[in-house]
Amino acid sequence: MLVCLVGFMGAGKTSIGRALAQRLGWRFLDLDDLIESREGRSIAEIFNRLGESGFRIAETSTLKELLTAKSLTGSSMVLALGGGTLSQPENEAALQREDVKTVFLSASALELWQRCLTKHSVGGDTRLRPLLKDEASFKQLYEERLPAFERANVVVTTSGKSVDAIAEEIHSALDIPPTAN
Ligand code: S3P
Repeated sequence: MLVCLVGFMGAGKTSIGRALAQRLGWRFLDLDDLIESREGRSIAEIFNRLGESGFRIAETSTLKELLTAKSLTGSSMVLALGGGTLSQPENEAALQREDVKTVFLSASALELWQRCLTKHSVGGDTRLRPLLKDEASFKQLYEERLPAFERANVVVTTSGKSVDAIAEEIHSALDIPPTAN
């Protein structure tokens, strides 16, 4: 089984994904890390050289490669997607599989904006975010992306909860079969 954590920038996908993988004894992967190693450059460099459209092509290819990889059939994993991954219809369609579950980490636009401005927000992530510009465009992107996030298999609200409490909530919501590991 592949559990994909989805949500906006600052939602805590990486830190909660790590905690969930640890609880389950599964491997944890971060799609942005996979894109960076596949392309041999940072996310910011990819945006600079190829623009957002070039980044989206790399993102979709990386996701599809992972979904067809042999490793997926053999072992269960937790994958943190990027904030824009699910909003690409092609990616959302590719994730519609019996062995893939999507989990939306929900929070308000204001809270997410504030978390993104605090460097050591949930999990202390420090990667540069090319799409993090001003509060108005952040809110607009949030509104545009919300419908796709709300179609996730599981929705968990994160406000005021610890990383471990959220991981525990996801674990019980997922109803993971004993053979899934
Ligand atoms: C993006 C979010 C980033 C990264 C890229 C694009 C987005 O991931 O994939 O900068 O479109 O919101 P995080 O959500 O992990 O910051």
